[in-house]
Amino acid sequence: MARGGRDRASTFGRIEGFAMKIMSGNSNLPLARAIAGYLELPLTDASVRRFADEEIFVEIHENVRGEDVFVVQPTSYPANDNLMELLICIDALRRASAKRITAVVPYFGYARQDRKPGPRTPISAKLVANLMTEAGADRVLSVDLHAGQIQGFFDIPTDNLFAAPVMAADIQARYGDQALMVVSPDVGGVVRARALAKRLDNAPLAIVDKRRDKPGQSEVMNIIGDVKGRACILIDDIIDSGGTLCNAAQALMDEGASSVTAYITHGVLSGAAVSRVSNSALKELVITDSIQTTDAAKESDRIRELTIAPLIGEAIRRIADESSVSSLFD
Ligand code: R5P
Repeated sequence: MARGGRDRASTFGRIEGFAMKIMSGNSNLPLARAIAGYLELPLTDASVRRFADEEIFVEIHENVRGEDVFVVQPTSYPANDNLMELLICIDALRRASAKRITAVVPYFGYARQDRKPGPRTPISAKLVANLMTEAGADRVLSVDLHAGQIQGFFDIPTDNLFAAPVMAADIQARYGDQALMVVSPDVGGVVRARALAKRLDNAPLAIVDKRRDKPGQSEVMNIIGDVKGRACILIDDIIDSGGTLCNAAQALMDEGASSVTAYITHGVLSGAAVSRVSNSALKELVITDSIQTTDAAKESDRIRELTIAPLIGEAIRRIADESSVSSLFD
């Protein structure tokens, strides 16, 4: 049976004895394996497969009665299938009498639908939170939620990890000798950018302010802050079509930045995003493995991946151990 129980060293310090199980859906097996590897556990023996009509079927092949189980399943593309897999995994675990079930959802799909943009529209992020809870999740663990308030959509404990320490270490190693400027690609991302800047010895901050004076007029990008001669680090939670980032990178280069590199937690990269990035003013796009990287992204010499498996693994270890998760970010 897959259990820990030894004392050993970890990236984040000493690991004492613990007991837990790590199970995975199909949405990001490499990440789940890496998390299990960090915790020196095998993945729980389970199969998550499809019937001929595409219905999902889950079977857990080992005893989980009374166990503390963590199900790793980002709800990325195809969001609906991956969400349904997660819900069915949770249901299977609940009916198999797991003691506690934590939904580990490094990328929380539907998070951008966190408010009503107009009359008669849904708040789908809240609906998804309800579904996870109703399926039987006791806790949720996510990374860089689109908006921190989404934690409040759950009435169960929800930990929101930040990829910033992993990004800051990489930025220091690669760009630490340059005159840095941390840039938020929009006004909404300033808090995230400021937090990263603080980790980079209080690097200065700039903001891309997008304005469309009248409907139908093209968007104007104003840069708040002097980026001339600076190695700009654009930070955001999501790159989807790539439009926000590539336009911001061009605007920064036009203002005299020496280079623009983007650090983005969730590489959604839909449609033509990879080729848009490859043809953009970006020196490099750095994403994490919260979502399984597509072959097209892996092949692009402009896109690099950082792993957050040790970060998530350590948070899981601390949850199982009932020790502080927030101190990971001190
Ligand atoms: C928006 O609020 C998010 O933080 C991202 O800026 C956005 O989702 C990126 O989308 P796209 O890559 O399609 O411009």
